[in-house]
Amino acid sequence: MDNHFRLDARGNATAATMFLMVHHAFRRELDRFPKALALLDPADTGQAALLAEHWRLFCWALTDHSENEDNILFPLVLSRAGHLAPVLREVEHEHEVLDRQMAELSMQMKNLSTSASIAEARRASEQLAWYLGRHLDLEEQHIVPVMVERIEPHELAPDHDGGEPENDPDEPPMWLLVTWSEEGVPREVNDAVVAALPPHFRDRMVQALPEWRAEYRDLVARIWRGVL
Ligand SMILES: [Fe+2]
Repeated sequence: MDNHFRLDARGNATAATMFLMVHHAFRRELDRFPKALALLDPADTGQAALLAEHWRLFCWALTDHSENEDNILFPLVLSRAGHLAPVLREVEHEHEVLDRQMAELSMQMKNLSTSASIAEARRASEQLAWYLGRHLDLEEQHIVPVMVERIEPHELAPDHDGGEPENDPDEPPMWLLVTWSEEGVPREVNDAVVAALPPHFRDRMVQALPEWRAEYRDLVARIWRGVL
């Protein structure tokens, strides 16, 4: 079986599985944004608003992912693989560059009303796709092996330290984050991730997933009109 998502020999999720699903979503979306911007008609304000809204989801997800790496994952990786300190410093520096690139593109996505502004946003999205692609490759080359071999999935759970989950008013709704993370991922990988959830949470999610997936399919068809 193709195992890009690093399930273990029994088909269970490892500490790297969800991490790699999110990387897959970043690459997928940054392949689509430049194409969608190339097709965008400056007069189509509805489509521009849809793309800008979806861009906010991307930004939230990448910011959250990078912060979790800096604050939770990398200290763990360092404690298990001290020789990676120089690579982790480089990756953290790249997070700052990515933040600046995202902020610039976010400004551009707010004004997609002329051919020139759309072309500028498209160029910035291509540049971000290139830089982020390198960044994700670097993380996967050095960090994923440590996650698979030396970190248990429960060590990365948000409430592992016993604290209350943070209340982030900008956080996208659960249905969207879940379906966005799993789009294009093999079914056995999604099933393994759901199976690893705490039972009360897992049961609620299994019940809700068919409706969430239908809603997401509808959203994707509208946002990526002409791209897919
Ligand atoms: Fe990162």
